[in-house]
Amino acid sequence: MHLEKLSLTNFKSYEDARFQFGQQVNVIVGPNGSGKTNLLDAIYFLSLTKSAFHSQDILNINHDADFFIIDGSFVTGEEPVTNAEHKRVTQITISLQKGQRKILLADKKPYERVSEHIGRFPLVLMAPNDTDLVREHAEDRRHFFDGVLSQLDTDYLRDYLAYQQVLKQRNSLLKLFADSESHRRTGRTGAQVDNDLLDTYDEPLLNLADRIHDRRQRFVQEFLPAFCRHYSFLSEAREAVDITYESEVGKPDFREEFRHFRRRDTMLQRTTMGVHKDDYLFTIAGVPLKKFGSQGQQKTFVIALKMAQFDQLQAEKQVKPILLLDDIFDKLDDQRIGKLIELMERDTFGQLFITDARPERTRQLLESVKAEVRFFEVGE
Ligand SMILES: Nc1ncnc2c1ncn2[C@@H]1O[C@H](COP(=O)(O)OP(=O)(O)OP(=O)(O)O)[C@@H](O)[C@H]1O
Ligand SMILES: [Mg+2]
Repeated sequence: MHLEKLSLTNFKSYEDARFQFGQQVNVIVGPNGSGKTNLLDAIYFLSLTKSAFHSQDILNINHDADFFIIDGSFVTGEEPVTNAEHKRVTQITISLQKGQRKILLADKKPYERVSEHIGRFPLVLMAPNDTDLVREHAEDRRHFFDGVLSQLDTDYLRDYLAYQQVLKQRNSLLKLFADSESHRRTGRTGAQVDNDLLDTYDEPLLNLADRIHDRRQRFVQEFLPAFCRHYSFLSEAREAVDITYESEVGKPDFREEFRHFRRRDTMLQRTTMGVHKDDYLFTIAGVPLKKFGSQGQQKTFVIALKMAQFDQLQAEKQVKPILLLDDIFDKLDDQRIGKLIELMERDTFGQLFITDARPERTRQLLESVKAEVRFFEVGE
């Protein structure tokens, strides 16, 4: 599977641009701020229907425009595709007009659900800020694992989206109760906390939470062996690494506790327990990586996470995911770059996109890789 053509209209810094990519290595070069990462983000968007960097779609519209269009052709079938007859092309178009809903089309036809698209053209991104995964909040870690699972498992993605929806509705209801309670205190009339009404949200929420919890737990077990293998390959170290899924949802008395905290939820106007509070604990030699891991260990950890994601996707989908390497050569040390190049030499990857502000360095590094390498200069 590979992305053959891409055309961008008013996407971030690109007003109007067209690209014809190679099936193997594509190197995007240009000075700082020239749009290299923006181009990777457009590819990310095409595969996952959102930006890797902005949660608000509208921020991806060029500042001088009021819409964007990303249009790309994915080729599927045998790899490498040499015979034009065996080539299957799918045209994916994503567009957004200010004030309207985002439109996603496959061969000019809308999908019934977005979840049918996610995972169809699998993709893995490695970017410089990936170590946020280790250093920052539980939300970042959930986001990573949810992203991996969403591409792997459509049922999971549906449950996840449904959970978000019910959670939002429950929180709105809590807010309504809290507002009316404060009205009552000031002598005005208002609705009381309606336990029956809350039940109608809690039941589906808790059922979805159970399913999401089970899938996340199972996933970590499936993911761990590949992850540990990659970590020891990259580091050549013997320290043991581990990932533990931490959730209140699996506890035997979770449902009772959840009900017990209704009052607290109403006061705080949000749902304080559930799978949206889960975390994943990363450890190295038995201690938390966040606190005790060196920068090098943290970087190796996140690359191993991404490599394991690549493996899981490949095993499930039977295709090599597209791999985006943003600024990796600039941010990694020689040993880790050497390991990535070793993997490229071994033909581990399918289509690759690499950005680099210093094209000569990439040229040199890729010398030993026997793959077709195409260079694209952006921002001229
Ligand atoms: N919505 C937008 N409209 C217009 N320009 C935008 C928009 N979003 C981002 N840009 C511009 O894109 C540029 C940054 O592009 P990008 O991050 O792709 O650069 P880069 O080539 O990856 O740089 P670096 O080498 O520093 O990583 C900035 O100049 C920014 O102003
Ligand atoms: Mg960049």
